[in-house]
Amino acid sequence: MDAAAPTPAIGPVPTGYFRWEPEEDEFLICRAVREETHDVKTFVLAPRHERQFEFVSGQFMTFEFEINGETIQRCYTISSPPTRRDTVSITVKRVPGGPVSNWLHDEFKPGSLVKATVPMGEFSWSGMQDTKYLFLSGGSGITPMMAMTRAAYDLAMISDIEFIHAARSPDDIVFRDELELMGRRNHWIKPTFICERDSPFECWSGLRGRLDRGKLEVICPDYKERVIFVCGPAPFMKAARTLLKEAGFDMSRYHQESFNFDSFTEEAQEQIAEATEAITTDVKVYQLEFTKSGRTVECPEGMTVMEAARRAGIRVPSSCSKGLCGTCKSKVTSGKVDMKHGGGIRQREVDAGMALLCCSKPVTDLVIDR
Ligand SMILES: Cc1cc2nc3c(=O)[nH]c(=O)nc-3n(C[C@H](O)[C@H](O)[C@H](O)COP(=O)(O)OP(=O)(O)OC[C@H]3O[C@@H](n4cnc5c(N)ncnc54)[C@H](O)[C@@H]3O)c2cc1C
Ligand code: FES
Repeated sequence: MDAAAPTPAIGPVPTGYFRWEPEEDEFLICRAVREETHDVKTFVLAPRHERQFEFVSGQFMTFEFEINGETIQRCYTISSPPTRRDTVSITVKRVPGGPVSNWLHDEFKPGSLVKATVPMGEFSWSGMQDTKYLFLSGGSGITPMMAMTRAAYDLAMISDIEFIHAARSPDDIVFRDELELMGRRNHWIKPTFICERDSPFECWSGLRGRLDRGKLEVICPDYKERVIFVCGPAPFMKAARTLLKEAGFDMSRYHQESFNFDSFTEEAQEQIAEATEAITTDVKVYQLEFTKSGRTVECPEGMTVMEAARRAGIRVPSSCSKGLCGTCKSKVTSGKVDMKHGGGIRQREVDAGMALLCCSKPVTDLVIDR
């Protein structure tokens, strides 16, 4: 790399255009559905009126679905780049038994409507001054990296992108053709795929197995000089993190995002351990009654409702654990919480007694509709 080429933040919607604001119209219309692999589809969404989206690559949106009379929220990363502002695309993997991903695959068609909130999240290279990146993705975790790579391609950025994607088989590689095409046309973009096994109609001739230090050093010998973004299933991210730590990588240059509801971050586990310890000391303990599960659990002062629920084995859906996505939104029918959210709930919902359990700490005993 001969010249410093900072990653540009794509600026606000230019004058003369109107930004899409969910307060004005929270519905997006499906314009197209594209089949990426046998179990992954891309849905192209647009505002109903002439509006443009403002976001940075790597961000996600929270969507609200009405499925069989139930309202369910889920987050999806925007897989399209912010250089194409008229639409946003989400790329969804069908999760066996999952209510939303299957409904999207089976029922969501061009013309269908979905409620959405503004793009959120900090998993992005926007504003970074670095020029060398390593993207490590597994399965549907490819989406934020794809948004960044598409933006780099559209803007002809001189950003050195080593993009390693792990898939089960060649048939499972999402965006294979597009990544190969971008790589052929822009030599700064270098995709490599690793597959665990062959497909019925393709014998895999590339790297085989799972990502490990040996493979990483072969594909990207200068990985220690790069900023690394990782997204994928929990075991994939854990393996990537462990191998980089063991290799002495400077973890301040490591960024990860989890899509997995059931995965606990190490940080969250430490917080739970600390709060659990606090129970034995002289702190106030609140009673939390979960009406749907018929359980009452103890929550020491300073612990979030979510942590207390999980400690007691009560499953509360969650994604970001940071008050951003709205997935853990629940009705608190009695009592008060101290909630420090990051935009995942609207004031009118707070006024109606809703709270995000991942970032709410009780200040009284509570009754929660879960
Ligand atoms: C910030 C963020 C961004 C996300 N972006 C995407 C995206 O770009 N594409 C995408 O397909 N999903 C993405 N997800 C996951 C998505 O929100 C849903 O969890 C997923 O579609 C499954 O929903 P469901 O209702 O079908 O199943 P759920 O009932 O939500 O999940 C069923 C089970 O599958 C696991 N699971 C959830 N998502 C996945 C997955 N993608 N692959 C494998 N196992 C999974 C869950 O941990 C759970 O055990 C994202 C999640 C977050 C928090
Ligand atoms: S899990 Fe995202 S807001 Fe609580």
